[in-house]
Amino acid sequence: MTGPTDNDTPPAFPFPRTCPYRLPAEYNGLRESGPVSKVTLPTGKPAWILTRYDDVRKALLDPHLSSDRADPNFPMLVELARSDKDSTLSLAGMDAPEHTRARRAVVGEFTFRRMEALRPRVQEIVDECVDAMLAGPNPADLVKAMSFPVPSLVICELLGVSVADRDFFEDRTSRMLSMTLPPLTRQQAFFDLQTYLDELVTAKEKVPGDDLLSRQIAKGRKDRAYDHDALVDLAFLLLTAGHDTTGNMISLGMLALMETPELRARITGDPGSTPQVVEELLRYFTITDIITTRVAKENVEIGGQTIRAGEGVFALGGSANHDPDVFENPGELDVDRGARQHLAFGHGPHQCLGQSLARMELEIVYDTLLRRIPGLRPAVPAEDLPLKNDAAIFGLHELPVTW
Ligand code: HEM
Repeated sequence: MTGPTDNDTPPAFPFPRTCPYRLPAEYNGLRESGPVSKVTLPTGKPAWILTRYDDVRKALLDPHLSSDRADPNFPMLVELARSDKDSTLSLAGMDAPEHTRARRAVVGEFTFRRMEALRPRVQEIVDECVDAMLAGPNPADLVKAMSFPVPSLVICELLGVSVADRDFFEDRTSRMLSMTLPPLTRQQAFFDLQTYLDELVTAKEKVPGDDLLSRQIAKGRKDRAYDHDALVDLAFLLLTAGHDTTGNMISLGMLALMETPELRARITGDPGSTPQVVEELLRYFTITDIITTRVAKENVEIGGQTIRAGEGVFALGGSANHDPDVFENPGELDVDRGARQHLAFGHGPHQCLGQSLARMELEIVYDTLLRRIPGLRPAVPAEDLPLKNDAAIFGLHELPVTW
């Protein structure tokens, strides 16, 4: 492989994005120069990055590349506080066969059919957010008006979390996912959320409601396999994975839709094509590029390079989704390319559990905003938007819009 020799200091990773529309400029060069490159993490530790589509897919299927976050060699982007290390991150931090069992127990909650049953309620939530935005000042910040409230309210509905607590968990999640706040601040945020969810699950054990957590309690008790702590961990994962991701895709997708007349016309002219637009936007932005992280439990060979047991790997979905061998002119937003094989939701056993929900939320938000506010447009040039290079999930801190 080509890449740094032992004497070079591998480049600092993650590479920042310099524009909302572009993935890190380094990806193309590295992908062309070889399949595997060594990088230096902010913690000072080395790790491997995979940049080509086929290698990323294979890596995410490889049972020797583990999601075990309790492994001291697991490659972290930030130094962890002690209580972070104690968390397994539920499904996201498990390997088979434990992962297979735990995922099987909850996957029925996220089927396409179950998510479709939520569609009318999601539409109501989106309409209420649009009403509130139209009744407020113009310009408005789309991040505050839509990107965060919509997925947050939906996940509250699903889990049976009180809407009144939304500000609290949004704030704690964003602190926890920050790559710049001090470890103690992130630790406190983690601890606050864990305590909150512990109390919530305890309350539902006593007085069940019609929600995912209550159903998991009933199912666990029926199977004599109920585990309070495991359910708190799952609630934690769903709450945090379920809103920051979709929220950032709402902001970036809306930016592209507002600034690309053909794309906007596709949706307004034929709402039936929205799912296709959503798919291409997911591929194009791949906001969760740097979260598909693994540690090798045994030596693994990728593209002629041996990754040794104990070494960390970032399987870069964004770089894979812009691999010209798979996606022609990857830097173009081309709705007709049929981007369904993209890796924005990961691949293999850990592929995103909430993808049907995320797709539905994005479809409804894009459709509703463009239909109800035809003159909606950014209030500042794209190059002035504050980018979330300080977080594990890419997005925009603010998106001022006017109409
Ligand atoms: C896993 C992306 C929305 C729940 C993942 C993974 C990716 C991803 C890339 C794989 C991580 C890995 O392989 O280590 C996204 C994107 C979203 C989104 C781009 C929105 C646009 C959601 C939502 C939920 C959710 C709405 C839940 C309500 C999960 C869970 C996992 C996961 C539970 C872990 C699955 C497992 O380990 O078995 N997501 N996600 N995600 N996602 Fe999402």
